[in-house]
Amino acid sequence: MLYKKNKIQKEFFSKGYLVFKLFSKQEINLICYDLIERVNFLSGLNKYKKDIDLANYHNLNFFLDRHEKIIKGRTRYLPLRKNFSKKIYKNKIIKQILYSEWGHENFIIKWIFDRKTKTKNDTTGFRLARPVKKSTKDVGGFHLDLHYGGEKNENIKALFTIWCPIIGTSSKYTLRISPKSHKLNHLQKFVSRQKKFLSPVLMENYTRKFKYIRPQLKIGEAIIFHPNLIHGGSLNLGNKTRVSIDFRLFNKKYFK
Ligand SMILES: [Fe+2]
Repeated sequence: MLYKKNKIQKEFFSKGYLVFKLFSKQEINLICYDLIERVNFLSGLNKYKKDIDLANYHNLNFFLDRHEKIIKGRTRYLPLRKNFSKKIYKNKIIKQILYSEWGHENFIIKWIFDRKTKTKNDTTGFRLARPVKKSTKDVGGFHLDLHYGGEKNENIKALFTIWCPIIGTSSKYTLRISPKSHKLNHLQKFVSRQKKFLSPVLMENYTRKFKYIRPQLKIGEAIIFHPNLIHGGSLNLGNKTRVSIDFRLFNKKYFK
């Protein structure tokens, strides 16, 4: 029997992304709390028993050397509380999208932090991006998540990404994406050979041709997007430090 896509599946198929409600306000607060603990630990501030106000993270100039470690290091991950990962595994919208793209809905949340060799299950990545007037260095260029772990991958059924803002939900802060760009074959010759970012960055003369949007989100909403969707270069145009989590849903057919 021919499988017919429902409204959600059709929308995702056509745009390559979907905004949906993932967490409650209270859950976002708990994730924020966990991130404060993690950043406190990574920054060495826990020694001083001083909690970081993440929204004002960009004003903490006294540990700039640590900043590099926090945002670029292989340590910018956070194990998810069990009830949060459970909630993601049970989410109906995620399941419907995966089913229509993969033909099944079995996935594993996995963070890859060292060129495919080191992974952690039920773990999310996180990012802190300071306002652009403070620094432009915290955001990477345009890329595809398809080439996860910084290596070339051609299996478009390998993974999906979910990006969820914790602080900064307006379009001044959110992820910049190019709707429908997932339908094109982005040739390897447009991928630059840098090793600075985890995902290889696309060349500017290529990404220039696309149109971009930054969705306006509500707290608790997230963007699920296709691995072949162009995204990135999401400068923080607000006054607060943007705090976001992003996690990968890997296809259980290929990953354990
Ligand atoms: Fe990405």
